[in-house]
Amino acid sequence: MWQQTDCVCLILSAIITGSLSVSWDMKVSPVVSVPRGEDAVLGCSFTHPRQQDYSGLITVKWLARESNAPPFLMCSLRNYSKEELKDCSGSGLKHSLKGDPRQGDLSLIMRKVHVADSGPYFCRVELDGVWQYEQKETRLLVTVNPQILSLSVVEPSSDPNSTTRRLKCEVEGNPPPTITWLSDSRHLSTDQVFTSPVSLERLFSSVVYVEGEVFTCRVENMLGGAERRYPADNTLIITLSVDGLIVLLMSTGVIHYTRKKARAESSHVYENAAAGENHRLRGSDRPAGGDAELQ
Ligand SMILES: *[C@@H]1O[C@H](CO)[C@@H](O)[C@H](O)[C@H]1NC(C)=O
Ligand SMILES: *[C@@H]1O[C@H](CO)[C@@H](O)[C@H](O)[C@H]1NC(C)=O
Repeated sequence: MWQQTDCVCLILSAIITGSLSVSWDMKVSPVVSVPRGEDAVLGCSFTHPRQQDYSGLITVKWLARESNAPPFLMCSLRNYSKEELKDCSGSGLKHSLKGDPRQGDLSLIMRKVHVADSGPYFCRVELDGVWQYEQKETRLLVTVNPQILSLSVVEPSSDPNSTTRRLKCEVEGNPPPTITWLSDSRHLSTDQVFTSPVSLERLFSSVVYVEGEVFTCRVENMLGGAERRYPADNTLIITLSVDGLIVLLMSTGVIHYTRKKARAESSHVYENAAAGENHRLRGSDRPAGGDAELQ
């Protein structure tokens, strides 16, 4: 008699711990940020109540944009199969599964992402048919550091509607950056500035330009900023991005080192070395026309 109770208790506790410890759950990161051109991994993992002894079919689907869109990647495998994951690694081109769905890993790898790949994605798993499923949304953000691609004067002849010369600043960045014009000589009201997108990550802005004026075009988004002056002069262009800052710090270090070394030698040599530095600094400045940028 006591043996029977014991047995029932065991079964009961197994059922209770089994169903309490593992329930349907799916984990994704809400947003995945990846620089343009790199590979993105959209992480996704799941657990389900029957996973201790589940030997049925696991169907993995990845959807883009809409939660009910047709999947752009889909694969099915039985949980007892020891076979390679060849069906799940896709064509090996743009998308493939990174992990093993039998271990609850549904993560997706996307190669060499473009800004156009940004947006919502949906990770979905179905067990033994479509009525047992879980689906979660994750977002991909493909980032582009803000930078100025060109800053130049456009003659009226190249734009039939315009009779004045305009200074045109073309930039890129994602998330979409803001463009600000700075002028020493006049206050710019918003109706004097014309801004328009060129492509997903590029846009240009222009202002009326009168010979002799000095303008600075500045571009910024959450990743940083950059600016450029027109006409170009011997001022160092300050790139606010982390890359630019590191290069700047490194070159300052080099100059200090050169100075220290020079000081150790005679004062005459030091003067020459200093002159050499100045010359080198100017050399790394942007040439007239203002199309190069110190990075
Ligand atoms: C597949 O089976 C193994 C071993 O039986 C189990 O550990 C795993 O959780 C199962 N996977 C799924 C997704 O049910
Ligand atoms: C140029 O002018 C024409 C006629 O006024 C107008 O339809 C067109 O949209 C203008 N183009 C631009 C780029 O402003």
